[in-house]
Amino acid sequence: MTADFDTVDYFTDQSLIPDPHPYFDHLRSKCPVVKEPNYGVLAITGYDEAGQVLKDTETFSSCIAVAGPFPPLPFTPEGDDISAQISAHRSQMPMFEHMVTMDPPDHTNARSLLNRLLTPRRLKENEDFMWRLADDCLDDFVGNGSCEFLSAYAKPFSLLVIADMLGVPQEDHEEFRVVLGAPRPGAQVGSLDGDLVGLNPLAWLDDKFVGYLEDRRESPRDDVLTALATANYPDGSVPPVLEVARSATFLFAAGQETTTKLLSAAMRVIGDQPEVQDALRADRSRIPVFVEEALRMDAPVKSQFRLAKKNTKIGDMDVPAGTTVMVCPGAVNRDPARFENPHEFDLDRKNVREHIAFGRGVHSCPGGPLARVEGRVSMERILDRMGDIRIDDEKHGPAGSRSYDYEPTFILRGLTQINIQFTPLD
Ligand code: HEM
Repeated sequence: MTADFDTVDYFTDQSLIPDPHPYFDHLRSKCPVVKEPNYGVLAITGYDEAGQVLKDTETFSSCIAVAGPFPPLPFTPEGDDISAQISAHRSQMPMFEHMVTMDPPDHTNARSLLNRLLTPRRLKENEDFMWRLADDCLDDFVGNGSCEFLSAYAKPFSLLVIADMLGVPQEDHEEFRVVLGAPRPGAQVGSLDGDLVGLNPLAWLDDKFVGYLEDRRESPRDDVLTALATANYPDGSVPPVLEVARSATFLFAAGQETTTKLLSAAMRVIGDQPEVQDALRADRSRIPVFVEEALRMDAPVKSQFRLAKKNTKIGDMDVPAGTTVMVCPGAVNRDPARFENPHEFDLDRKNVREHIAFGRGVHSCPGGPLARVEGRVSMERILDRMGDIRIDDEKHGPAGSRSYDYEPTFILRGLTQINIQFTPLD
């Protein structure tokens, strides 16, 4: 049954999961800034309006960035400016300890630690690692001529790129794979260092990084973890180890799932549109635009939330302090006022890099350059080693009437699995 778009609950209704775009288009056709009826959340589907919200940290707080109206605010907004209420209740709000929910100046401090890490030199070294890693992951399954792409490639690849970026020693990589849910195919996971399976991955990561960082503060070495352990805040003060560890571990939370979703969305395009696959095989220089267009068409972050701190306006709409605002990057990236034929995958799209899959403003994704390289390196090696990539008809149905399952959430958009067949080219 088709949902009634005027009353449907965007946050829970499963019928919007496979393809949310008809709903997004419906919202935009009413107004690019429109209140959804169930939680009073102001949904932004227009390009210009999204930019306005994301760039204005004076008016819009990120304190609810990740989960929006869930749980409800721990206070009742009062008056024209709720900045003091936000400050007083911050520590009761989800993920308050991570930079994504912080506002300046705390956000500026937390983010400065990352700048020490994501340097051009480090990105180059990390890219060198990616080329080796892509082949290492492909070696595990390419000979079979088929795979479930998320578990075989996208998850372990995205995970280990971040591990390498942070300088996690190579000998610990297998342990990271097991705890973070991307074990090597056929690995005897239970036998690795006691029973690692089933641990809370974020708590495990915090402990692991506190250990690495304390060790490097005591005995510095010439490595990335030492650079991170000895980084100071912009005012010269030394951050507590746990804060540095959290900046590091948050990269796994922010970077693994999202990049997995990008890689699998790209694979769906390659499998479903043989003409795109052929065009990429014929001219590899088109890969970067292909990756951008995959991000535009299927933005992995589905909703970014902000809380209006003060009475304001978005476009012509009056917005009282305390309003929850939801920017929908997937919808914004298909705003016809910005992107011609927005629902078409176009390898020649001129303004493709204007998409907002990586957000905008001070919180815009610091991992964007990394994710783009991950997409490019993966596509290069996949096209080199896998010929004639096809979607598995038995698992997803025949061309023209495929069925794909997406994660049942309003926060991220991504396939739960994608089964492919191909001709090994080794
Ligand atoms: C295709 C892959 C990715 C997408 C689509 C993506 C998307 C985003 C978006 C939309 C935001 C902004 C959130 C907001 O404003 O509320 C963000 C923030 C963030 N991303 Fe990514 N991301 C990706 C990959 C990565 C990677 C690989 C890393 C790290 C290695 C990473 C680390 C972060 C961090 C730390 C933040 C918080 C930044 C801040 O609050 O200042 N992301 N990402």
